[in-house]
Amino acid sequence: PHAPGGTAVGLRFEPIQQQTGDAFTVPPGYLHDVVIRWGDPIFSDAPEFDPENQSAEAQLRQFGYNNDHVGLFDLGRGEHLIVANHEYSSEPMMFPRYDPENPTQAQVETAWAAHGLTVVAVSGEWRGRRSRALDPVLDHPLNRRLHTSSEFELTGPAAGSELLRTSADAEGRTVLGTLNNCAGGLTPWGTWLTAEENFNQYFANADAVADPTARERLSRYGATGGESGRKWERFDARFDLALEPNEFNRFGWIVEVDPFDPTSTPKKRTALGRFKHEAANVQIAADGRAVAYMGDDERFDYLYKFVSDEAYVEGDVAHNATLLDNGTLYVARLTGDSPASQIDGSGTLPGDGEFDGSGEWIPLVSGNTSHVPGMTAQEVLIFTRQAGDAVGATKMDRPEDVEPSPRTGAVYVALTNNTSRTAAQAEEPNPRAVNKFGHVLELVEAGSDASAATFAWSIFLLCGDPEDPSTYFAGYDKSQVSPISCPDNLAFDDHGNLWISTDGQPGTLGTNDALYGVAVEGRQRGEVRQFLAVPAGGETCGPVITDDRVLVAVQHPGEVDGASYETPLSHWPDGGSSIPRPSVVATYRADGKKIGHA
Ligand code: FEO
Ligand code: CA
Ligand code: CA
Ligand code: CA
Repeated sequence: PHAPGGTAVGLRFEPIQQQTGDAFTVPPGYLHDVVIRWGDPIFSDAPEFDPENQSAEAQLRQFGYNNDHVGLFDLGRGEHLIVANHEYSSEPMMFPRYDPENPTQAQVETAWAAHGLTVVAVSGEWRGRRSRALDPVLDHPLNRRLHTSSEFELTGPAAGSELLRTSADAEGRTVLGTLNNCAGGLTPWGTWLTAEENFNQYFANADAVADPTARERLSRYGATGGESGRKWERFDARFDLALEPNEFNRFGWIVEVDPFDPTSTPKKRTALGRFKHEAANVQIAADGRAVAYMGDDERFDYLYKFVSDEAYVEGDVAHNATLLDNGTLYVARLTGDSPASQIDGSGTLPGDGEFDGSGEWIPLVSGNTSHVPGMTAQEVLIFTRQAGDAVGATKMDRPEDVEPSPRTGAVYVALTNNTSRTAAQAEEPNPRAVNKFGHVLELVEAGSDASAATFAWSIFLLCGDPEDPSTYFAGYDKSQVSPISCPDNLAFDDHGNLWISTDGQPGTLGTNDALYGVAVEGRQRGEVRQFLAVPAGGETCGPVITDDRVLVAVQHPGEVDGASYETPLSHWPDGGSSIPRPSVVATYRADGKKIGHA
């Protein structure tokens, strides 16, 4: 390996090897520390975590399960605000003696409380000057739990639609809960966007819906069959599609939360469309308008952006709170510049040496005006996938996080994998058949303006073991890069390096999921370096990279087929014979210096 001095600033750490053990692994010279675990109190009246006697009442005052997105706001004086979402509950891992056929009311209510969002202040002051460890500040005035019974407001052009009205909410504007929040993003105006993803799994009895249009809409969003896996419909009829068909339409949105107002009602922003939202990341366009980039994480689904009508005004909280309610939603169509005959599904580069081409943003809906023949504006917003189908959007390999570089404006798209794509379906933007390892796309808006109608794109990484000839690391020397598979969440550091967390390395490379840094500019462009690895069975989520520390969420540690509370694969982070606990972890330099500096 070459001297660390040749590596981009911010990435001058010694890359770690691929890992398989039940440990959280960091580079030499780095330390790590758990910030908060599932069940840790965020209020002093919460009981200490006791998995043998967990209750909904306790869980509502404690950090939830399966943390995914993590956001960090600096509060000054060594304090920070962490926002984290709790994507889903894993009942067999959470509860002793869990019977999946007969969950108890107490278990279901605890799972409702374990879903949702947490806002919690953290501080490093108790650990001394050098340490970058962080601990929760109990009872901080901004601490907050939002869960499956919390009120959320539907806003924007589809709010109040007949398709969003239920027997509990005749107005179609107030939803209880947010479900399956995956990644997210922080806005320039200081709010938190969090993304409702695989919400279909909570709803039962799609089979009992007779109307063919309704059935088609349900099935396009993955709602099929009878009983749901968690059987929540036995305890709350709103999860039964036969009884409450529109409740389903009230999930699948981007949620905006003002973490600085603990009394605020979070908003489900209908103008950003409804699909299996992975995340939303905002960039400000040349004329000041807010542009949110978004992916729909499903095989053969689409890449989107929303452009606000009005410009962002720094410091105007009330005005900025309206930006995501008024604007135009676009879906991407990508065209390759090499002959189709050169794209055979093997991942071999075409004659011009690059998978690249041009793209257009196809407008779907602007406020109350639909651009899709045969669909109303509200239908486009609520059944956005069908709108994408109708306009011929490009079917992608599971678009996950879509992250603009704050330095260059180039946009990076994590396409995690798609093993269903056949050789006949390979095309330049998704050039691999049976795409097991995923890829990362780079997109440059026309005129480097985020509001542009067209863009250029190229493939930045074709992931996998670098010894696999179908991999590509932006042309960088493949003998000098770390293996990487299933890119999921993306983040930038202050030096313009892209950080990539993975979800799926155990099933593809046979190693634990991990976090990588890679330069996107300069001579080191494409030099992927593995920074950390999470314990067995876990997924690496929510990366936040500052000069002081790297935060990640370890989601579902030890969760593999057949694992349960009684037979956990992992004992992380508490060790011994303990059950695993999803947790947020801070990694930092032992010598107190900056992350990734020599
Ligand atoms: Fe929840 Fe797309 O990962
Ligand atoms: Ca090409
Ligand atoms: Ca994800
Ligand atoms: Ca991200």
